[in-house]
Amino acid sequence: MSTLSQDDLKTLVGHAALKYVVLGEVVGVGTGSTVNKFIDALATIKEQIKGAVSSSNASTERLKALGIPVFDSNEVDELAVYIDGADEIDRQGFMIKGGGAALTREKIIASQSKQFVCIADESKLVTTLGRFPLPVEVIPMAAQRIIRQFRAMGGEAQIRLRDGQPLVTDNGQHIVDVTGLQITDPLKFETQVSQWPGVVTVGVFAFQKAHVCLLGTAQGVQTLTF
Ligand code: 5RP
Repeated sequence: MSTLSQDDLKTLVGHAALKYVVLGEVVGVGTGSTVNKFIDALATIKEQIKGAVSSSNASTERLKALGIPVFDSNEVDELAVYIDGADEIDRQGFMIKGGGAALTREKIIASQSKQFVCIADESKLVTTLGRFPLPVEVIPMAAQRIIRQFRAMGGEAQIRLRDGQPLVTDNGQHIVDVTGLQITDPLKFETQVSQWPGVVTVGVFAFQKAHVCLLGTAQGVQTLTF
């Protein structure tokens, strides 16, 4: 019996997401290795869509390289569907996102979309959010104070580095990653942390939760609806 690798599961859900694309319209596209599989699949129906709104420079490059037109989010009204991955998703559709540092644009496009379809392999399904280090995009001058605020909550936070330097997001800001949290009330948590001065976006997607999750499992694609 052949076993599916994590990469196979990503390919499976990336293809399964095509069914949610509304033909003739612009589709919202997220960021990450699972979304890359979706973008590759989307290229096979590119003549049947108007184009995409993209949540990162990396996805924009991939979309354009495959000949899919990319629109600015301000050029389009409400999107029918936004397709993106997650670092964690629970049984209510609440997610942690931002492992690829694209959380701010992801939340913006999710808020502009009628339906959020999350594509993920089964390793991402959790009972309580918090096992994955929570990404938070911050204004650099507020980073150390925000790190202290998370410490007071019982979390350990650090600035994400790339090549020994603070990673700079597509929006010119920094990311702090927070470990040691058990996010039992994602709506309350997102409300609270979003109000801290200097927080651009917290990677808890509770208000912009998924409506559907296509979960790649050894038995095939499971569809969870929330
Ligand atoms: C990027 C994200 C991604 O959706 C998340 O990190 C999952 O990525 P991958 O599909 O590579 O596991 O939130 O900011």
